Formats: sequence, C-alpha cells, structure tokens
Amino acid sequence: MVIHDLLLKVVVLGALLVPFHNYKAEADDLMTKPGCRSSCGHLVIPYPFGSSDSSSDCRIDRPSFIVYCDDSVDPPVPYLTDKSINLQIRDIFVESHEMRLIFWTGQDCYNSSGYDRSLSNYPWISLPEFPFSSTKNKFTAVGCDTLAAFQDRLGRFSFGCMSLCSSDLDVINGSCSGIGCCETSIPRNTFNYNISIMSFSNHSNILDFNPCSYAFVAEIGSYNFSVGDIKQLKFKDPPLVVDWAIGNQTCEEAKKNSTSYMCKKNTNCTDAENGFGYKCVCLQGYQGNPYLENGCYDIDECADPTLNQCEVKCLNIEGSYAQRVITVMVRRVMEMDKDAL
Ligand SMILES: *[C@@H]1O[C@H](CO)[C@@H](O)[C@H](O)[C@H]1NC(C)=O
Ligand SMILES: *[C@@H]1O[C@H](CO)[C@@H](O)[C@H](O)[C@H]1NC(C)=O
Ligand SMILES: *[C@@H]1O[C@H](CO)[C@@H](O)[C@H](O)[C@H]1NC(C)=O
Ligand SMILES: *[C@@H]1O[C@H](CO)[C@@H](O)[C@H](O)[C@H]1NC(C)=O
Ligand SMILES: *[C@@H]1O[C@H](CO)[C@@H](O)[C@H](O)[C@H]1NC(C)=O
Ligand SMILES: *[C@@H]1O[C@H](CO)[C@@H](O)[C@H](O)[C@H]1NC(C)=O
Ligand SMILES: *[C@@H]1O[C@H](CO)[C@@H](O)[C@H](O)[C@H]1NC(C)=O
Ligand SMILES: *[C@@H]1O[C@H](CO)[C@@H](O)[C@H](O)[C@H]1NC(C)=O
Repeated sequence: MVIHDLLLKVVVLGALLVPFHNYKAEADDLMTKPGCRSSCGHLVIPYPFGSSDSSSDCRIDRPSFIVYCDDSVDPPVPYLTDKSINLQIRDIFVESHEMRLIFWTGQDCYNSSGYDRSLSNYPWISLPEFPFSSTKNKFTAVGCDTLAAFQDRLGRFSFGCMSLCSSDLDVINGSCSGIGCCETSIPRNTFNYNISIMSFSNHSNILDFNPCSYAFVAEIGSYNFSVGDIKQLKFKDPPLVVDWAIGNQTCEEAKKNSTSYMCKKNTNCTDAENGFGYKCVCLQGYQGNPYLENGCYDIDECADPTLNQCEVKCLNIEGSYAQRVITVMVRRVMEMDKDAL
C-alpha cells in the first residue's frame, strides 16, 4: 500500500517533467520552406523573403520580399530589387525584423575653376514598403564648407547639418562633433530620400585639404570619423538598416482573416512601430522563424548556462526548463511515509 502510493507519486512527478525534445534541424533549413532556395552568397534568405528564381510559394506575395540573386559572380550577390538599382542586401534578420542594405555615399566636389561635376553625385533612394530604421541609422556629413540635407523626395520636409572650418588643424580627430563632421538622426516613417550637398564658397580657400563634401545615411557604429576623411573619404559602401513588417494592417485587423494571418504556432504579434503592418515574434522560451509552420522551436535553456539557474541536473521542458528534482522528492516522500508508520 505504502509502496503503491509511493510509485504513484513518482509516476506523477515524472510525467510533469518529461523532457521536451524539439524539432530543431539545421538553422538554415528552419528559415526556409522545404524545396526553396535558402541562400544567395553569404545571405541566408529567410521566409517570408524568397529568391526570385524560387517558386512564388517560397515567399509572400509582395515585391519587396523578393531577393534577386546575381549568380554570374562568385560568390553570388543578392539585390533588393533588380540589379539595375544596385541595392545590395547584406543581411535579413527575422527576430528584429530588420534588413541591412549596402548603399553609396554622396559627394559634392570643387576644383580651382569651381564646381566639379565629374566627381559629384547625390544619392537618392525610394523604398515602397520598408522604412529606414530611425534607431539604427544616422545622417552624417563630412567637410569644411558643407551644408548637407536629407530631403523627402516628395518635397514634404528636409533636415540636415552644417560644418564650416578654415583649417584642418581645428578638426577633432575621431569625433563627429560639428567641426569637419556633423551628424543627425533620421525620423520614423521615412521611406525615401534625396541627399543634397551644398557649399557656401565653392571650397575656395580650403581646396588643398578639403576639395569635396560627403554625406550619407549609415548604420550607427559603421563609420568613425577621422581627420584624413576631410581630404578623401575612405568610407565606402555604407550599410543602411531598414525595418520590415507584414502588410499594412495592425495585428488586431490581420487576425480577423485566419487564411492570410502570417503568425504561426508559439508566436505573438506586435504592430510595427516604424512604417506599417504587423510583426510575428516567437513566444518567450522559443526561437526560430515565426512565419513558418512549427518554425518557433523550444530553446534548450539547459544547454546554455546563461539561460538557466539550475544547480543540479537541468531538464529542458517545452517553453521553459526545470531542475531534475525527482530523486529529492522521492526521498522526502519515503521519509514522510516512514514517519506515518
Ligand atoms: C574642374 O572640373 C570641371 C568639371 O568637372 C572641368 O571641366 C574643369 O576642367 C576642372 N578644372 C580644373 C582646373 O581642373
Ligand atoms: C529628388 O531627386 C529626384 C531625382 O534626382 C528628383 O526628380 C526630385 O525632384 C528630387 N526631389 C527633391 C525634393 O529635391
Ligand atoms: C561658385 O562657383 C560657381 C561656378 O561654378 C559660381 O557661379 C559662383 O559664383 C561661385 N560662388 C562663390 C561663392 O565663389
Ligand atoms: C569605431 O570606434 C569604436 C570605439 O573606438 C570601435 O569600437 C568601433 O569598432 C569603430 N568602428 C569602426 C567601423 O571602425
Ligand atoms: C586619427 O585617428 C585615426 C584612428 O582613429 C588614426 O589612424 C589617425 O592617424 C589619426 N590622425 C591624426 C592626424 O591624428
Ligand atoms: C494596404 O495594402 C493593400 C495591398 O497590399 C493595398 O491595396 C491597400 O491600398 C493598402 N492600404 C493602405 C491603407 O495603405
Ligand atoms: C482572407 O485572405 C485570403 C488570402 O489572402 C483572401 O483570399 C480572402 O479574400 C480574405 N478574406 C477576407 C474576408 O478578407
Ligand atoms: C503578446 O504581446 C502583447 C503586446 O504586444 C502582450 O501584451 C502579451 O502579453 C503577449 N502575449 C504573450 C503570450 O506573450
């Protein structure tokens, strides 16, 4: 009787703590639907993004989610729209709903006869669905006779910064603080820009150390100003971070149509705070791709000591973890029964 009771308790405890075996396969496989191209060069292409040469089931039906892969070079190079626009994709992040693009820097140059058209160029960009990250990017200008502006292409607003200096000795190396280099942040809900760069006096007295002004939007941390950049900017291919989300509905609106709603099992939905649409995220304790069937898999907290506080044997359970306490409990139960006798 006592033995039976004891077994029952152990069985019940055991049942509560069945270790959970997740279906985590290779990380890349989990990011893509079966049979779909999962990478282009160094880029992993996670669903809902898909390669232009895969079937349309491999991605959602939006032009911005198509990755164009140039396989004629080695390694292949991924582009956001077709190659003619020359907007390379460096990374696509599902968890943070960001994408890192490679853009170019603008410059406004002068020589002794004035404006030098042949060296000048003013970048512009227009993205139909993805806004620039207002928290990850900065607008920066470099020069000593420089007024640089970030303009909305529809002419609704513009902002920028200015830097004037008469000698490169005044420029503070390493700090973009207004002398030789100035910077400002980017507003939310911006999908396009023209960069324009102007001078006050054609760089006329500073041509020897600063013939050009430069301006670009780039990921914070990707560029450190150095005094040598006044003469010739060494920063090429600035990374630019954009935010992405699904469609243009809020979570609440999107949930009403279960056919088109994209968030799968073990996910939660959040509204985009920059731009439009909603974002699916794996629930706490899960990771992976929330847009794929069974894409969010359990995190094995036991495998990573920073994710658990276990002192004795750790047991991974679905969505969480537990210590292996059965042996301790059994001993307690036995002691209690002995007292009862
Ligand atoms: C300055 O640049 C312009 C246009 O690029 C060119 O035509 C002119 O010859 C240049 N002047 C000098 C002095 O190099
Ligand atoms: C931005 O640049 C485009 C192309 O260069 C031009 O057509 C447009 O007028 C510019 N917009 C503004 C506000 O300057
Ligand atoms: C700058 O150069 C242009 C010609 O390229 C000239 O028309 C203009 O007057 C010059 N401005 C100054 C302030 O030197
Ligand atoms: C810029 O400087 C910071 C601090 O000095 C450094 O951590 C970072 O790696 C530098 N970034 C680049 C792109 O050089
Ligand atoms: C400015 O700083 C960079 C690195 O931070 C260094 O390589 C360079 O020599 C410095 N230049 C001067 C003039 O101090
Ligand atoms: C939302 O997106 C759909 C198609 O994706 C489009 O037809 C519709 O006009 C958009 N609505 C708004 C308010 O932007
Ligand atoms: C729900 O979404 C599906 C797929 O996009 C669409 O065909 C259908 O018309 C939508 N239903 C409603 C009620 O909007
Ligand atoms: C889902 O997210 C909302 C806020 O976006 C939060 O209030 C809610 O608690 C979350 N649900 C779960 C199950 O994490």
